[in-house]
Amino acid sequence: MDPDFWHERWQRKQTGFHQTEINPLLEAFWPRCADSVAPPRVFVPLCGKSLDMVWLRDRGHAVLGSELSPIAVSEFFRENGMSADQQALNEEFVCYENGGIRLLCGNFFGLTPELVGEIGAVYDRAALVAMPPGMQERYVDQLLRLLPGRPPMLIVTLEYDPEEMSGPPFPVPEETVARLFGSTYRIELLSARDTLESNAPLRAKGLNRLTEKAYLLHT
Ligand SMILES: C[S@@+](CC[C@H](N)C(=O)[O-])C[C@H]1O[C@@H](n2cnc3c(N)ncnc32)[C@H](O)[C@@H]1O
Repeated sequence: MDPDFWHERWQRKQTGFHQTEINPLLEAFWPRCADSVAPPRVFVPLCGKSLDMVWLRDRGHAVLGSELSPIAVSEFFRENGMSADQQALNEEFVCYENGGIRLLCGNFFGLTPELVGEIGAVYDRAALVAMPPGMQERYVDQLLRLLPGRPPMLIVTLEYDPEEMSGPPFPVPEETVARLFGSTYRIELLSARDTLESNAPLRAKGLNRLTEKAYLLHT
């Protein structure tokens, strides 16, 4: 999507994707993705102000998030009782940091492997599905370019009939996950559950079926 679309969503507080509780799939499956004895540094692309980053930090991970909106980044630190140190890294990126969480505010597509640094695991919830089908490939290409070490990833996707609604979120069916990641990663489907009942906004948009799937990607 156009960056202005997301800037406007944050300005108008149209952030229905934000969860006020820790994602249950993260709690259930993260131990499959990352070592809890030596917790690796985790990358959270398109992180919004997700509380899941606090959960990861509290489990010992250093967390690196990528987010376009300065509103999201400021709200994240403020709402979690932290004041962030700010530093302009270059013309495109401002780094906000405190308490083991570092958020790079700027366009994900402008990130470089040097800015991201060493990453040991990835958590993607509502990032791949935020990309329209025509951009999903570009998103994954950039993700893989940033992560030459091929860390394991926990990815949460949504599936629905695209005839019933236009995204975001966009549907990412299993065959798309296979097409995007299959040549680089082994893909393990961890969970598939019907989430329409608990998603009133998407029900109101006309969906009759909504499935949330969690995948573990590993080499
Ligand atoms: C659907 S939200 C998901 C946020 C978060 N992952 C969560 O679970 O709440 C997508 C987020 O990606 C951000 N975003 C969209 N395009 C981006 C880009 N090109 N670079 C960085 N962030 C982007 C938006 O501002 C928004 O906060």
